[in-house]
Amino acid sequence: MTELNFEKHFQDKVDAEIKIEPKDWMPDAYRKTLIRQISQHAHSEVVGMLPEGNWISRAPSLRRKLILLAKIQDEAGHGLYLYSAAETLGISREELVEQLLSGKAKYSSIFNYPTLTWADIGAIGWLVDGAAIMNQVMLTRASYGPYARAMVRICKEESFHQRQGYEIMLTLAKGSAAQQHMAQDALNRWWWPSLMMFGPKDDDSAHSQQSMKWKIKRKSNDELRQQFVDVTVQQAEVLGLAIPDPDLKWNEERGHYDFGEINWDEFWNVVKGNGPCNKQRLDARIKAHEDGAWVREAAMAYAEKKEQRKLMESAKAEAA
Ligand code: 3HC
Repeated sequence: MTELNFEKHFQDKVDAEIKIEPKDWMPDAYRKTLIRQISQHAHSEVVGMLPEGNWISRAPSLRRKLILLAKIQDEAGHGLYLYSAAETLGISREELVEQLLSGKAKYSSIFNYPTLTWADIGAIGWLVDGAAIMNQVMLTRASYGPYARAMVRICKEESFHQRQGYEIMLTLAKGSAAQQHMAQDALNRWWWPSLMMFGPKDDDSAHSQQSMKWKIKRKSNDELRQQFVDVTVQQAEVLGLAIPDPDLKWNEERGHYDFGEINWDEFWNVVKGNGPCNKQRLDARIKAHEDGAWVREAAMAYAEKKEQRKLMESAKAEAA
């Protein structure tokens, strides 16, 4: 079969909703964009543990501490799941980690904002995990098998993440005036960065068109963003909190909320590494990697020793 036939056969499978598996033929560009997206997704999960980890020792009760610990451990697992999905495309874990630590690879802009109060932990669960769910439910139908299947497990845990965050916001919103102020302040700071999680506008998205053709994406950035706004505005109403957007208005004709313009300069500035916490996040990841070097070396040494012992035993068995 010529390259063209391979391409056609591949696209026919995608169009027929047949999952593409690691051993299947795939265009290099498909493989490349999946490694790009899945690895950045994995980096986001791991870096995303940092802003929340900041509040484990400051949680207002043992119950909240337990819930936060469980959520952060989930995120670590999501990261490992996604690194494994990326490895099925022929890239090593070492390369993936090196791309993050060297600053070559991106991770979600949202994790470059500081968590200033306990209400931020509620806003992150409610808004950030809420936005992630919108995107990840779509990705459970991605054409690449390992990615789609990883998303099924991750989405189940994200629902708990979003629910616990919303419960924190509900507790604060129904609390004292100071707690209500804290919840509103967190919403004010996390609303717009959460909308930026969905990526640039469709017209400015470098990858969307091709990703939609390959059914990596089923909905565009703007479609998912709109879906998120429509759902979240009503949740804010239940909380009695105001969305910090004077242009937010229900549009009966469209059947959606109209909302204000995102600050795209801020978005690209954060994506390019100049956000409030980019340096702090990467420094923390580099330090964790360096501090964990002895664990990796010990694990490798153990594996080598085990392999040597296996070889010696089989040599003895052969000689006998
Ligand atoms: N932060 C950082 N970079 C972003 C970004 C964001 N919010 N949105 C877009 N970008 C980057 C893209 O990576 C791409 O850069 P690249 O070519 O160097 O990779 C560029 O901006 C153009 O954007 P596109 O829209 O063309 O790129 P995509 O088609 O990849 O769409 C995306 C962007 C919607 C984020 C898509 O990559 C995606 O769906 N990724 C998987 C989901 C994900 O990574 N979510 C991040 C959060 S994970 C999370 O929240 C965990 C939860 O447990 C809290």
